[in-house]
Amino acid sequence: MMTQDEMKQATARAALEYVTPGIIGVGTGSTANYFIDALADIKGRIDGAVASSVATAERLKKHGIEVIDLNDAGELQVYVDGADEITRHMAMIKGGGGALTREKIVAACARKFVCIVDQSKLVDVLGKFPMPVEVIPMARSYIARQLVKLGGNPVLRSGFTTDNGNVILDVHGLDILDPVALESEINQLAGVVTVGLFARRGADVCLMGTPEGVRTLTR
Ligand code: 5RP
Repeated sequence: MMTQDEMKQATARAALEYVTPGIIGVGTGSTANYFIDALADIKGRIDGAVASSVATAERLKKHGIEVIDLNDAGELQVYVDGADEITRHMAMIKGGGGALTREKIVAACARKFVCIVDQSKLVDVLGKFPMPVEVIPMARSYIARQLVKLGGNPVLRSGFTTDNGNVILDVHGLDILDPVALESEINQLAGVVTVGLFARRGADVCLMGTPEGVRTLTR
């Protein structure tokens, strides 16, 4: 039997096919870490990488891959990252690792979002995995009350501060039937930095590790 980690590793390796010369965007998490390790083998083909977190930047540097400031990079050809949940329509919940804001920014700069997951992440309806929302600390209680009105049960991620100095509310109990609408609605709340729903700009390709091999899903 193939383990979940082996499936993550296989999908991460498969993503190398989408790496084009120039600068690429690199995500955060255990699957993204496998991608970084695989990228090290072909690092001569790229000029460098934009990192979606401090942790990713450290790992890239450890492999001798140059880390480039997004402001100096312009448009990226591709962004490769994992997800906590993904639908067949390529909408995702991300931010389990807390890097959702930088991930959304780097994804926004990329022509193509390649999502790398093992098969356990594919769902019909988003929301079983608690949806992270990064908020400015002073807005925490206000936003929690608004999220309750939207039907969720927000829980402060304890002892956690984001790379941007903010806090995260993990919202339990949602059945997200219209992720594009919910993302837009939460984006409007004063004090929300980023909602971990990636639906308005979802993935373009999903490489999904299964025991039978890596499956490619597209929009
Ligand atoms: C981090 C993320 C990750 O992509 C997500 O948590 C998946 O992580 P993993 O690859 O470890 O399962 O959004 O903020």
